[in-house]
Order: sequence, then structure tokens, then C-alpha cells
Amino acid sequence: MDDFDYRHGELHCGGLGVSTIADRFGTPTYIYSAATLLDHHRKLARAFAALNPLICYSVKSSGNINLCRLLAEEGAGMDVVSGGELHRAIAAGCPAERCVYAGVGKTDAEIEFAILQGVGVLNVESEAEFEVVAAIAARLQRTCVAALRVNPDVDPKTHRYTSTGRKETKFGVDIERARAFFAAYGKDRWCRLTGIHLHIGSPVYSVQPYVDAITKTLALMDELRAAGHTVDTLDLGGGFGADYETGQSPEASVYADAIVPLVEERVRGGLRVILEPGRTIVANAGILITRVLYMKQSGDKTFAICDAGMNTLLRPCHYDAFHFIWPVAPAAGFVPQRRARTMQLDGLALMDVVGPICESGDFLAIDRPLPPLRRGDLVAVFTAGAYGMSMASRYNSVPLPAEVLVEGHEVRSIRRRETWDDLIAHECPA
Ligand code: LLP
Repeated sequence: MDDFDYRHGELHCGGLGVSTIADRFGTPTYIYSAATLLDHHRKLARAFAALNPLICYSVKSSGNINLCRLLAEEGAGMDVVSGGELHRAIAAGCPAERCVYAGVGKTDAEIEFAILQGVGVLNVESEAEFEVVAAIAARLQRTCVAALRVNPDVDPKTHRYTSTGRKETKFGVDIERARAFFAAYGKDRWCRLTGIHLHIGSPVYSVQPYVDAITKTLALMDELRAAGHTVDTLDLGGGFGADYETGQSPEASVYADAIVPLVEERVRGGLRVILEPGRTIVANAGILITRVLYMKQSGDKTFAICDAGMNTLLRPCHYDAFHFIWPVAPAAGFVPQRRARTMQLDGLALMDVVGPICESGDFLAIDRPLPPLRRGDLVAVFTAGAYGMSMASRYNSVPLPAEVLVEGHEVRSIRRRETWDDLIAHECPA
């Protein structure tokens, strides 16, 4: 599954002891495994090989340019959602033609930048946006390629904050409006509307929502073609799951087995398929390590107060998301056999794992069964590679953490820990 495992009672990554990495780089630190990142990308590419898709890694999930570069060198494109992410993708060595650019609120400056860079596909989310894109392309006298993001009204059965394919979301246009959209804009000279884009939500742990959404979309594509429009690109978006708990998510091949047969024949007929996976590639390629600062008892509750919190990893408090947490070097008898919400081990105690931030909502886990912890212990938060660092903040003026990358038996810094001076560096002198 990934390259983080317990050996001789201590968590290792790629054969390196995580305690040694913590001693060298401090805490909190995100540790990524290049081997896992590439392995997940290759598994997807193999599973979907029959569609020969352009796999556009979703930069928002974890955008460090060193991670993006590893994937770009494998031939991946990038799914970007802002001018900043496009800049990041290009800086990482991904050609703009291999980038797809979605987002409901692209500014004029971002659209101009994307067109001038020659972005592969602009995924357009409304009539108003299309008109702005077409006007900017005309002013620049540069053609661009667009896909219409349609909202197929399927329920991805995921957290409401990350469910995007149902009616009444701000994303895309209702699938019923797509015909009128193509009728109005399908012949635009500067913005060539030749694709359909979908993204139903994230994470989606069953294949059925994809099957439903794709089936509706293929019917739409048939109608559009019958009406004389060219539709040569189908972007299926992202949303494949990751194992926050052992065995939780279908493998890439399970998604592919359901999706490939629906689209395969059209690919033979010339359809280009794009995928936009983020989490499934990077979630288990990263962990967050944090140190216990204090143990504390309040009423009946035990708190492990750590140097990472909602500022470092927002997902537990924002989505009530589960992340497996375990000591890096647990006492004998406490080496975990799997990652799960509940553990059947004698001697575990329920505790809240919390951060230093001045909010009661600042937690990494609530009522979690854990082995005894003491001040100074190192704790690992697993499956933290996706939407971890990319959603981290400087709230409470706590500097952003470091990021390190393990490649083979080597570890190197890919983002230095911020300093207090960094915190005030962008402010005008007082
Ligand atoms: N494509 C589009 C248009 C998206 O909006 C997203 C994610 C993706 C692709 C990649 O989805 P993935 O394969 O990573 O599931 N912060 C939340 C997730 C938000 C996802 C936003 N869009 C979390 O921590 O769970």
C-alpha cells in the first residue's frame, strides 16, 4: 500500500527511521515517499491503459513543486485551479499543454495567463465565464480549447463540503443546460468548445456514482454530436478514494474495471480521456510527524497536546475526517498491525490528540485509543499527503511546517520550515 511501515518497533520510510528524520528536520514535518507517489501513479496508468488517458495530477491535493516534478517526469499532466497552481505546474516542469484548468472563479488575469501559456484545456463552469474567456482570447488573438463542466446530478455519497456533482452546487452547469450552452457557444472562433468535464466529488468510495455520471454524459455527447458539435475530449475529474483505514478504498483497477468498458470504444474512435486524480496518488505517499508537548488531564478527558494542529492538518476539524495516528516508536506490544479507528490491544487509553491553536475545534483526533504517550514522544499522522500541507495555514502566527522527500534511502528537504521572520516578511514596515 505504501512505504511507511514499522520495523524493529519503529516507523520507517524507505528504510529510514522516522525518528532520525525528525531529529534532523524537526517537527511538525510532512514526510513524503517518492516510491509510493510514483507507484500510485503507475497503478492508475496501468489500470486505465486501455483508455490511454492523460493523467492530470490534481495540484491542489499537494502542490510542492518537487512532488509535481516527479509526476511530470513520468508524463503526468496537471489539474490546476488557479493561476498560482498553473505557475506552480510550469515551474515544476509540466508543459502548459498538459495542464487542465478548472475553477468557478477564474479572474481575467488568470484567464489571460492561461491562454498566453497555452494551457491544454480550460474547464469552463458557466455561460458568463465562457463569454469572458472568449472575449479575452479574441483580444489576445489566441485560440484556446475549452471543455464544459457539466453537473450530472449524481450523489457521490461523500462529505457535503466535497460533494460537487449534485444539482444546486456552484460547480459546472446542469447537464440539461449543456445543449443550449453548446448551441450558443459551440462555434466560437477563439474559444473552441470541444470537451466535457465532470468532477462529482471527493473521495468517492464506490464506482456507481462514476458509472451513473459517465452514462448520462455519454448520452449528452451523442446528442451534441448529432447536433453537429465536435466533442473530442472527456475529462472525468478526480475523486478516487484512498485508504485512511486499511482496505477502505477500492484499488485503481476496481474503478477502471467499471469505467473503461463504458468509454473504451469511443477512445478507439478518437475520443481523448483525461483523469484528474489527487488524493489517490498522494494521500498515502505522505505522513505528518508531530511531537507531544504536554500530556494533560481535564475532567475525565486526557489530552495529548502536540506541535501540529488544525493549522498543520485541517481535515479532522473541518470534515471530521479520520486519520490514523500512532506513536513513531511505540512501546513493545503496541506495534499496529493495520490502520483502523478501533484497535484491539490491551493497555490503550482514550485521548484527544490536539494542537497548540486557541480553538476548542483544534484537534487531530477525538477519543482515540492510543498507547500511553509522554512529553517528547513522536507521533505519526498517516494518510496526510493529500490536502494536508496544501490546506495548512499560519493561523496564530505559527510558521508553516517543513516538507521532506524520501527517495531511495535518502531524505531531503523540499520545503524549509518557515521562521518567525517569514511570518512578517510580506507586511509593510510598521
Ligand atoms: N478535479 C477537480 C475539478 C476537483 O475539484 C478536485 C478536487 C479534483 C480533481 C481532485 O480530487 P481528488 O482526486 O483529490 O479527490 N479538501 C478536501 C478535498 C477537496 C477536493 C476538491 N476538489 C479534503 O481534504 O478531503
